[in-house]
Amino acid sequence: MAESMKGLKRTCRCGELSAANIGQTVTVMGWVQKQRNKGGIIFVDLRDRAGILQVIFEESECGSENFAKAEKLRSEFVVAVVGIVAKREGGANENLATGEIEVRAGQVRILSEAETPPFPIEEDSKTKEELRLKYRYLDLRRPDLQRNLILRSKITTTIRSFMSGEGFLEIETPILNKSTPEGARDYLVPSRIHPGCFYALPQSPQIFKQLLMCSGYDRYFQIAKCFRDEDLRADRQPEFTQVDLEMSFVDVDDVIDVTERMVQRVCKDAIGLDVELPLKRMTWQEAMNRFGSDKPDTRFGMELVDVSTVAAGCGFGVFTSALENGGSVRGINVKGQAGMPRKRIDALVEFAKGYGAKGLAYLAVQPDGSFKSSFAKFMTPEQLTALVEAMGGEAGDLLLFAADKNKIVWNVLGALRCELAESLGLVDHNRFNFLWITEFPLLEWSEEENRFVAMHHPFTMPMEEDLELLDTDPGSVRAKAYDIVLNGVELGGGSVRIFQNHVQEKMFEVLGFTKEQAYDRFGFLLNAFKYGVPPHAGLAIGLDRFVMLLVKAESIREVIAFPKVKDASCLMTNAPDVVEQIQLDELGLALKKTES
Ligand code: AMO
Ligand code: AMP
Repeated sequence: MAESMKGLKRTCRCGELSAANIGQTVTVMGWVQKQRNKGGIIFVDLRDRAGILQVIFEESECGSENFAKAEKLRSEFVVAVVGIVAKREGGANENLATGEIEVRAGQVRILSEAETPPFPIEEDSKTKEELRLKYRYLDLRRPDLQRNLILRSKITTTIRSFMSGEGFLEIETPILNKSTPEGARDYLVPSRIHPGCFYALPQSPQIFKQLLMCSGYDRYFQIAKCFRDEDLRADRQPEFTQVDLEMSFVDVDDVIDVTERMVQRVCKDAIGLDVELPLKRMTWQEAMNRFGSDKPDTRFGMELVDVSTVAAGCGFGVFTSALENGGSVRGINVKGQAGMPRKRIDALVEFAKGYGAKGLAYLAVQPDGSFKSSFAKFMTPEQLTALVEAMGGEAGDLLLFAADKNKIVWNVLGALRCELAESLGLVDHNRFNFLWITEFPLLEWSEEENRFVAMHHPFTMPMEEDLELLDTDPGSVRAKAYDIVLNGVELGGGSVRIFQNHVQEKMFEVLGFTKEQAYDRFGFLLNAFKYGVPPHAGLAIGLDRFVMLLVKAESIREVIAFPKVKDASCLMTNAPDVVEQIQLDELGLALKKTES
């Protein structure tokens, strides 16, 4: 039966004790990790969030009643122990932080008994993730998850202290909103008081933070929950957290400066990592040309090479027709992999197709200098030699080529490069390569909608030198937008905002919004701008991704206490779930019958 804590007060956490405490009487409370009964002596490993402590029960020291209780202890029982810290008999355990000591128990209370958990509570669990997530409250007892969440808490503390030191005000913005223009699908909340009307959960605090600038708050930040109904991946959750900031009277460099100093401070405080500032910067165009990605992983080479000029006029229709259609031919050089088995190359072709390629052409430079290739027969020896030379190809290299529209070629080779580097062990996992990507295109052509859409959002400022192109060649206008990238992951992004009415109107025009449509969606922002708006800019960092990368976790689920799975459900609470008819009635909602 569970006993009460009455009269006892915890003096410290289990994992906080060390040789410095020898001789002290302590009261510790925690979960039984393991109990071993060696006849006259019982060893109990007691666990709390600070670590594991060995507790020793001997009848001569604790008396028969306490000894009998110690005999009953099983894994995950919650107990309180009063005892004396002593040097560990039988030598120190170097695997434990508290390995030099033990607590010799005088008294034990069983505060809670426990059933056998469905999986062992231990580090590096081999348990399937579905089971772990179903019993997340048990999973969260495991030391690795506890370390992640403790570090996450430390990181938010560091961020708050840094930001407030820089003069930023932490201001909360609403969760029940009108839809924001971030581009993903909204989560909607039906209104009871306004039947037929819906709130949208914020995809980010974007509009509110811009309004706060209009209101003179100058420097705002928030550790903000955001919601996006999009397809989930390892680094995406339907609800996630942003470190969101906005500043007035600033330009690109000011936002970059404060952000990178914040990132530097977090890295130092969290994992002792020294990050050299300023961080490297690269334009979007350069990133695409060299890495085929706007979030390049620069921990390894294998950069893309544009061989369009060499491929022009060759006899290989795949190459020439791509060029005729305004595309390009580009390749990567997989050093020393000429001997890659055919099966593996075929798998790479399939991989490339998954990224939109129609195929993948290859050329292996054999050790004797001859070529093995899927397209050699369409080219003259001179053309082949020129191609190999352009690729920096040497005996033993495998050259892979994609020919298509630029966007597809970049996408395919960018992904292939990462896949190959990972599988060939070329990635140094101890490196943290930060990088700013700047000068993003302002607009992106949407084939689906047959119009330009904003690459970032419709309030992003075009670069001054490109303003005139808005009329003549909107697709080539660059934006004052920037992303911060870490090891091939988009950590955060932001932009300088449009604050001049005529630029904003032009932007809506290019996006194909009428004035009425623009006012309908963003009227409160456009109206606010009529009453005096400072030039402003900002950015948001994905906190979950940042913590994930710092702890080298495979997924952001490892740094979120209660994450959702791929189909956006919570395996523990079973959300989303059906609701009572009366709740629907109150909201004036009727469900459509779906085929089952
Ligand atoms: P953006 O949409 O680029 O910008 O988002 C900023 C950062 O948020 C993180 N992020 C996510 N993390 C986990 N799961 C998701 N589903 C998810 N979606 C985004 C990423 C991303 O870089 N309002 C603008 C910022 C601004 O302009 O100030 C915005 O939200 O790390
Ligand atoms: P095919 O003419 O379709 O048999 O293709 C000949 C070779 O070119 C094969 O190795 C294909 O995988 C490759 N290939 C086809 N389309 C492309 C493309 N768009 N880019 C690069 N290689 C391609």
